[in-house]
Amino acid sequence: MKRRSFISWGAAGLAALCSAVGVSLGAVVRFMVPSVFYEPPQSFKIGSPADFPFGPPTFLADEKIFVFRDGEKGFAVASAVCTHLGCTVNYFPSDRRFHCPCHGSVFSSEGEVQHGPAPKALQWFEVTLTRDGQLRVDKDRPVAATYRLMA
Ligand code: FES
Repeated sequence: MKRRSFISWGAAGLAALCSAVGVSLGAVVRFMVPSVFYEPPQSFKIGSPADFPFGPPTFLADEKIFVFRDGEKGFAVASAVCTHLGCTVNYFPSDRRFHCPCHGSVFSSEGEVQHGPAPKALQWFEVTLTRDGQLRVDKDRPVAATYRLMA
């Protein structure tokens, strides 16, 4: 093989190698960075006040919240996510407490831990009334269990 031919084949091989490494790195970077984020919105409308009955709370499964409506106190929204490992708690009107089906945590009607292993109370979220008369919940705005919206 002549020297000139050897150098040109070597340059072509090096260029092909660099190209393959570049494409591979691009694919790795593309794989590591998601193109869509599926985190649901933290602030959302849940309906008008008339949609929620008085008495036991209404469970909204998609949002994992309980909406309480009390004639004297107003609206309150509690998280249905257990603070232990994130299971969805159930509310039992018979004893007015939340029970976690996964590991047995029990929360009072105010969300306080009454029986572990949950380390802390259920969260409560701000609920407001929009201009078009809808209730809006904002999970980025935690509030005290005593917070109520009169509507
Ligand atoms: S996830 Fe609720 S007690 Fe473990």
